[in-house]
Amino acid sequence: MTHIQMPGLIDPHVHLREPGQTHKEDFDSGTAAALAGGFTAVLAMPNTQPPITDEESLDAALRLAQAKARCDVGVYVGATANNATAAARLAGRAAGLKLYCDGTFGSLRLEGLASLQAHAAAWPAGRPLAAHAEGRSLAAVLLLAALYDRPVHICHVSRADEIRLIRKAKERGVRVTCEVTPHHLFLSEDDIPRIGPGRSEVRPRLATPADREALWQNLDVIDCFATDHAPHALAEKDGHEPPPGFPGLETALGLFLTAVAERRLTLGDVVDRMHTNVARVFGLASQGDTHIEVDPDARWEVRAAEMNSRCGWTPWEGMTLRGRVRRVTLRGREAFADGNVISPPGSGRILSPETLETELEEA
Ligand code: NCD
Ligand code: ZN
Repeated sequence: MTHIQMPGLIDPHVHLREPGQTHKEDFDSGTAAALAGGFTAVLAMPNTQPPITDEESLDAALRLAQAKARCDVGVYVGATANNATAAARLAGRAAGLKLYCDGTFGSLRLEGLASLQAHAAAWPAGRPLAAHAEGRSLAAVLLLAALYDRPVHICHVSRADEIRLIRKAKERGVRVTCEVTPHHLFLSEDDIPRIGPGRSEVRPRLATPADREALWQNLDVIDCFATDHAPHALAEKDGHEPPPGFPGLETALGLFLTAVAERRLTLGDVVDRMHTNVARVFGLASQGDTHIEVDPDARWEVRAAEMNSRCGWTPWEGMTLRGRVRRVTLRGREAFADGNVISPPGSGRILSPETLETELEEA
């Protein structure tokens, strides 16, 4: 059995649902899922209940993360119509600012142009600005990035038009990076009947096979793979008005290593997009003595019942994947081994420039 070593994976886009919706996930279960999937650091989105939009809500989320997380966690602050100045003051403690330009789960949504422009102007250029911006919203965000000469990161790109526009913007020198999810790379709307109508609800929606192929054709434009781990309970997905979102932390690496086995990707492509580029785009310091051991030949069947996520389902149920995480070492300590999460709640660290400074001062 040959094992390969990879750096600890970093997921820049997860929903850990705390505070407010811990029946779907919390910092404990979500970071257990992260470790089982080979991730040693995750950046959590602010569309919680209440949403994270000010100092009080950010502090509350960071306190919960500090007490419960098993791997390292950063927390985004969410942009609202009137928090541009207040949000910018939190830049030292947040993983980044999230702009919701299009409709999705939760109440965070920026309408119109003025608030978007205010955030582009106020948020420090040296800290990550991430946007959910589909279609024409994407064009608006790219223009602001160019006008304010500030980097922007585009979340979960899913359409041919969008990835081509990002290519064009990069060629013109706009400081834009982007991420794509496993579900937009490996699924399309053709999979909806198999997955089921409620369960296949996700934002951005699953796209056409041609969109999916365009993402593969433009792999060089894709900086990061992000799971957009968005757990909702099975009863919710199968009920009335199913909320959008797929869990993804425990299947992402297996999907990508299967693509490596099929020679659609190289291992280097995966390490770049699940570690190196993510650390660069999000300004994350090395975690030090942190790595994962993977058995690239292991075949395993995806079963939600065996997962750490609280949501109880997966769109990949029953699929056979190649490549499995055997061991995770986080800062020199065994964090996951042979199917068991070992790191206790509270052993993860908060990822932010200020906590880094404090740690350096204490060291
Ligand atoms: C996300 C969620 O459930 O929080 N859902 C989704 O379909 N991706 C929200 C989001 O990332 O847009
Ligand atoms: Zn998301």
